[in-house]
Amino acid sequence: MFGKKKQVTTIDKDQLELIENAQNRIKQKKRLYIHFVIFLIGAVFLILANTVLGIGKDFKIAGIDWFVYAILVWLFLFIYHFTTVFITHKFMSKEWEKQQLDKLVNQQQQRIDKLKETFLKEETKIAQSQAYNEAKSVEVETASEKKNSNELTIIVAAGENNAIGKDNDLIWHLSDDLKRFKKLTNGHHIIMGRKTFESFPKPLPNRIHIVITRQTDYKVPNGVIIVNNLKDALDAAKNDRQPFIIGGGEIYKQSISLVNKLEITRVHSTFDNADTFFPEIDKTIWKEVSRTTHDADEKHAHAFSFITYLRK
Ligand SMILES: NC(=O)c1ccc[n+]([C@@H]2O[C@H](COP(=O)([O-])OP(=O)(O)OC[C@H]3O[C@@H](n4cnc5c(N)ncnc54)[C@H](OP(=O)(O)O)[C@@H]3O)[C@@H](O)[C@H]2O)c1
Repeated sequence: MFGKKKQVTTIDKDQLELIENAQNRIKQKKRLYIHFVIFLIGAVFLILANTVLGIGKDFKIAGIDWFVYAILVWLFLFIYHFTTVFITHKFMSKEWEKQQLDKLVNQQQQRIDKLKETFLKEETKIAQSQAYNEAKSVEVETASEKKNSNELTIIVAAGENNAIGKDNDLIWHLSDDLKRFKKLTNGHHIIMGRKTFESFPKPLPNRIHIVITRQTDYKVPNGVIIVNNLKDALDAAKNDRQPFIIGGGEIYKQSISLVNKLEITRVHSTFDNADTFFPEIDKTIWKEVSRTTHDADEKHAHAFSFITYLRK
């Protein structure tokens, strides 16, 4: 079971072929040599047969003895034999064919390698440009998201107790506040809840109204955009560099975490009769960046301040 393995002498196929080739060459050369010797003896014999033995002594072609022609023909045969062994064999042998084939295969391989290299280079370039484009589009997307979120603004007028309305109407009339609202929102998208929209006698001029409602058959005048959720409202305004969320209470609550800017008109009075409120402004999140105070006067029953907050 664990005895010595019997040694078997093996010659691989290539070696065997080489040996066979070498043997064939030796045989060919031997035959040529024998041919040469026979040719020499034969030539001497033909000369002797004619000159000594007198065979065909009178047979001449163009004045030359026949044996000269015989020797020339034989010499031609011998030269042919010689050519076959040393020249034709060398150039037209199987080995020569194999060499030519190898040459061709090598050339093809080199072309394939070159093509592979070019292909790889192209592939790398494509991958790089794809990665670049992807990075660029992410960059552009992020920039546009940033831009949109940076300028998405809540605008509101709220009392000291955050009151903003009662019975679907405002509690005060502050002419300068309305002017400021008009100035800031002019030419922009204004996003609002259905109830706030209904509190207007008619759509405000020079602004694109986006009204949020859960109703699927809610009818509005031409030019007013209806959406069924806040996300669609923001999508509808995505090309605006500064869309405004203008209320009311429900929409403010849902959107305050999404905006980056608050334009607050703080009315310096408390309105206990209000039924709608603005969410508390968390000072850990919001930083006051500007404030303008307006005293009460004959046109304004309450003092108020315009305060701008930016997300910290
Ligand atoms: N002081 C200010 O600056 C100011 C500004 C604006 C408004 N206001 C006051 O605020 C009051 C109105 O506010 P409000 O809170 O009662 O109503 P609102 O926010 O204006 O509108 C609420 C309505 O919006 C729709 N809605 C809300 N969230 C939605 C969602 N996630 N998806 C789909 N639809 C949604 C619903 O409409 P459907 O019921 O049709 O489904 C809902 O009934 C009024 O008194 C108004 O005068 C004050």
